[in-house]
Amino acid sequence: SAAEKGGYDYFMLKEIAEQPKAVSDTLLGRIDGAGQLHLDEIRIPPRVLREADKVVIVACGTAYHAGMIAKYAIEHWTRVPCETELASEFRYRDPILDSRTLVIAISQSGETMDTLMALRHAREQGARVLAICNTNGSTIPRESDAVLYTHAGPEVAVASTKAFLTQLVACYLVALYLGQVRGTKWGDEIQSVIGQLARIGDEVEAVLDTMEPVRELARSLADRDTVLFLGRHVGFPVALEGALKLKELAYMHAEGFAAGELKHGPIALIEKGVPVVVVVPSPRGRSVLHDKIVSNIQEVRARGALTIVIAEEGDTVVEPYADHLVRVPVTPTLLQPLVATVPLQVFACELATARGNEVDQPRNLAKSVTVE
Ligand code: AGP
Repeated sequence: SAAEKGGYDYFMLKEIAEQPKAVSDTLLGRIDGAGQLHLDEIRIPPRVLREADKVVIVACGTAYHAGMIAKYAIEHWTRVPCETELASEFRYRDPILDSRTLVIAISQSGETMDTLMALRHAREQGARVLAICNTNGSTIPRESDAVLYTHAGPEVAVASTKAFLTQLVACYLVALYLGQVRGTKWGDEIQSVIGQLARIGDEVEAVLDTMEPVRELARSLADRDTVLFLGRHVGFPVALEGALKLKELAYMHAEGFAAGELKHGPIALIEKGVPVVVVVPSPRGRSVLHDKIVSNIQEVRARGALTIVIAEEGDTVVEPYADHLVRVPVTPTLLQPLVATVPLQVFACELATARGNEVDQPRNLAKSVTVE
């Protein structure tokens, strides 16, 4: 009903708008005033976390994209090797696991069959399993050794939005916590990122406040066949997520690529007028990533692409190459997906609406996939 949608036309719009609160709820009680993490829910003994020699993340769909981003964070802050794998692939390829493997299963619903089968398989091999889940008392957390709930509130729209952002926050918390428990040379950075994570709700709000040009752009592209998405580093999974949203909702051909792969094939798809969304990492910090992606934008634009550039406030270098420029707040490199994903959600939702699609219930899809 209209009341359930809180005045919005669709649950998806409501859930996109709820993201600042949702991410703050994920953080609630988990970071104290002194910037200390409190994750006592992770009832896996610190000794086990210290001795773990590998992290394996399993998930499907959007949750898998959160897991891909988590890999960058975990390896950077903990120096523990981390793999992220589609649950449906992991389960059937005889993966190597033992009691020193920490498995993280990410699922909004907690009922996704492939993810459940993957975690059962992991536990049979002696691995410890931590679930990151949004649904209290669902099967995946019940069968795991520990659970970190995302507290996003119910997500009704089939296309995942607030669940994704809160999964990311939970993943960062786990990565930072593992970094703290294990003690790495990144102690100061971890402390500063915790402070920035604590304020991320405001940054997400700031993005939501500036989305009108993105909606206008989406409407102008409603009759296109293809949209391509490029990213590097944590921007790569963001590109995949942007493409998935557009497939699900707008029923368009949408593909995400690692920008560095362009020359290895995808650049052949570029022709005059093809919209290419580029997620640009911060020019600060690892500026080499930024230089590389600026060249990628130039390459596709020289071949006629319509460039839609998502870049940090103050990044003037990209301006000459952007047909459309979407600004996101300054964040640490690893946290950028929390702000960069939001315009892509709005873009897909608006484009789908402009095409006359039912955004909350896209064709052929179910909210949770409880069959293999
Ligand atoms: C996201 O928009 C999708 N509808 C889908 O990919 C979803 O993320 C996937 O099925 C996993 O669901 P889960 O998080 O409930 O396990």
